[in-house]
Amino acid sequence: MKRSVKALTLVLAIAMIVSMAACAPAAPAAPAAPAAPAAPAAPAAPAEVQKVGLSMPTMSLQRWNQDGSNMKAAFESAGFEVDLQYGGENEVPMQISQIENMIAGGCDVLVIAAIDGGSLTEVLADAKTQGIPVIAYDRLITGTDAVSYYATFDNFLVGKFQGQYIVDALDLANATGPINVEYFTGDPGDNNINFLFPGGLSALQPYIDSGVVVCPSGQTDIGQVATVDWSSENSQARMENLITSNNYGPNATKLDAVLCNNDSTAQGVTNALLNAGYTPDNFPIVTGQDCDIVSVKNLIAGTQAMSVFKDTRTLANQVVAMVKAILAGSEPPINDTETYDNGTGVIPSFLCEPVFASAENYRELLIDSGYYTEADLQ
Ligand code: GAL
Repeated sequence: MKRSVKALTLVLAIAMIVSMAACAPAAPAAPAAPAAPAAPAAPAAPAEVQKVGLSMPTMSLQRWNQDGSNMKAAFESAGFEVDLQYGGENEVPMQISQIENMIAGGCDVLVIAAIDGGSLTEVLADAKTQGIPVIAYDRLITGTDAVSYYATFDNFLVGKFQGQYIVDALDLANATGPINVEYFTGDPGDNNINFLFPGGLSALQPYIDSGVVVCPSGQTDIGQVATVDWSSENSQARMENLITSNNYGPNATKLDAVLCNNDSTAQGVTNALLNAGYTPDNFPIVTGQDCDIVSVKNLIAGTQAMSVFKDTRTLANQVVAMVKAILAGSEPPINDTETYDNGTGVIPSFLCEPVFASAENYRELLIDSGYYTEADLQ
């Protein structure tokens, strides 16, 4: 009996222990080790915004305002910061100090349309020392090896369009002459005139050689036909002198054509011819380039015969592509490695294609393409 009491006690004791264990609150699960807070994503180092210095020659001619604003927009939408400056009224010292500021201000690349292509040697030596690439825009920069690339329109072809227009409009192939032609080109510091003027002459040369085309003033050297600053006032003054000294007029000595290398010079010539009494019915052929609004109105009115459309949007986009490639360390698009020697060697270039413009096609070229609105040309 004693053994059985003992045994019972043992069984009860075990039962108690088991039941106590069963009732014991389950040991709280060890709290999951708090997830280590995700290491905050290292704040993406702000992609370094690259800065482009755009140096344009002047605000006084329409085209440079358009070049400046088109490039600014194109570069900004490609994510660049832009420092855009205009050199006052073609003021060389101002352009130089603006470029100095661009270099000091940390520009990664410079795009420059020079007022005087030969005046930037010193300032660009600084750019070169600091490894800042330079693109010559529209006009070649000469006498410095700091220029990496050149983007422009085919300037010789622009001139050729102008000369060829005169050949075709006056049917020189069947003319006996004399056909009286006067010549105007642009600023002597602008390297483009060394392509525009010969381009124009290249089409006329066979007729000059055969004596069909003559220049009554005898002013045919590039130095004699240059127009400082490409200014309309200067071309008007020279045309007025030519009218007086050669007795040109609707009822006097016949003037068949005036080869002008751009629109601003053409506008001055047109003003002088209007003042001399010419009307759209008897207007001499006046050529141009740029499709400036004033000149397109003259095309429509019959007081300028043709212009050349150089879509500044095309050139702006080309330059953005060039800059992106250069800054990425790759070769930018180039399509000419022969034509433009700046005195230190040939500068690899991209030449955009100019397009002939006249009263017949201006609508399609300029309005349908969104370059101008109908209202701009009223
Ligand atoms: C030239 C340019 C022309 C014209 C002229 C006057 O260098 O190629 O388009 O605008 O300057 O600014």
